[in-house]
Amino acid sequence: MSSKAIILVGGGTRGTRFRPLSLDIPKVLFPVAGRPIISHALSALATVPSIKEVLLIGFYDDSVFKDFLAESAKEFPQFTIKYLREYRALGTAGGLYHFRDVILTGHPYRLFVIHADVCSSFPLQEMLSMFEDKEAKAVILGTRVEPQFASNFGCIVMDPTTKKVIHYVEKPESHISNLINGGVYLFDRSIFDVIAAARNARAEQTREDPSEVEDGQEVLRLEQDILVRLAQADGFYVYETRGFWRQIKTAGSAVPANALYLQKLFQTDIDAPHLARASATIVPPVYIDPTASVDPTAKLGPNVSVGPRVRIGPGARVKEAILLEDTEVKHEACVLYSILARGVKVGAWARVEGSHITPADHSTVTFKNGVRVQSVSILAQDVVVGDEVRLQNCVVLPHKEIKSDVENEVIM
Ligand code: GTP
Repeated sequence: MSSKAIILVGGGTRGTRFRPLSLDIPKVLFPVAGRPIISHALSALATVPSIKEVLLIGFYDDSVFKDFLAESAKEFPQFTIKYLREYRALGTAGGLYHFRDVILTGHPYRLFVIHADVCSSFPLQEMLSMFEDKEAKAVILGTRVEPQFASNFGCIVMDPTTKKVIHYVEKPESHISNLINGGVYLFDRSIFDVIAAARNARAEQTREDPSEVEDGQEVLRLEQDILVRLAQADGFYVYETRGFWRQIKTAGSAVPANALYLQKLFQTDIDAPHLARASATIVPPVYIDPTASVDPTAKLGPNVSVGPRVRIGPGARVKEAILLEDTEVKHEACVLYSILARGVKVGAWARVEGSHITPADHSTVTFKNGVRVQSVSILAQDVVVGDEVRLQNCVVLPHKEIKSDVENEVIM
């Protein structure tokens, strides 16, 4: 029996917390561990033999995914990949409903739905096994977070014996559970009945009080409109993962996501192409594009991704960082906990730094002298940092030139 997968990719008006990096490239195509964010989800889907088609649903212009689809068709010959464009943001369930005929073509038996901005070990096989064992209608990926972060997510209360979801609340005001929605679902076809019921309820509400329904009845969200309903019925289970998981919301969160995917690659395939071998100057895992030039006296790692045509000079130090294409780090410069977007230049003896952040941290802000600052420094496209300049915990918008030391600022 065949399955399909849907990846919800959002659109240009979403993912604003990923700015300034999303000014240049849509968030879901931003490279972490050397590959676009959504390629990691596609790789996971490729391990499920029954999946014959993957649909990306979003509201970006069609042209945005043209090259990516062509590349992915070569990389993943086991399924077809198509992009379906919503005429406007329809919400995480509204798009599914709008394209229900396309989704149900070929009578898929099961549907994976994945939020594109999730970084995870994607335990899809385990979710499938649970789905079969429990004869479920829906399985949601759950993950535990530190209690202080839980209310930023959808929270799940489950029966610890049966793993049945008994209660779901999106971003609750008070603490109900630290088991949260991991943004990966497995549904059977009856999900469309549940969405239709939610739509009807919304239509009823619109008739009674049009001012109550801001977005129109077409806009439906899986989290608020659908999962709450599923929890009230039978057949909704949670698969709690012990694997890694985090969201990629802010631009800074690409740094821990990069670390998690690099570590996974290093642990599962130490000889993976472009993973640099451990040496006196390489602390794994480090990904280096074959077109990059790294001086042998520069020290890299851990958790560094070096993109195409990057140049790293003698004696430079790069750690916990993503360097996109055509960036340059001159001799003796230092780049730590930072992202350098396309074409950034860091001068000789300069320091570009963020603060220490662990992959388990679900926040990318930190407090310094009582001031809220970005943990990760982000230099947008074509920023130039002068020789010997020190830049710490800053976000710099495109094309700026930084000539003197700066700390804890957003430079516009
Ligand atoms: P917040 O987390 O509330 O800031 O909103 P968000 O839009 O960043 O993320 P949300 O958790 O609501 O969305 C989960 C995934 O669905 C992300 O990958 C979004 O890009 C995607 N998404 C959100 N809204 C839509 C939508 O209207 N249509 C489609 N196709 N995808 C969406």
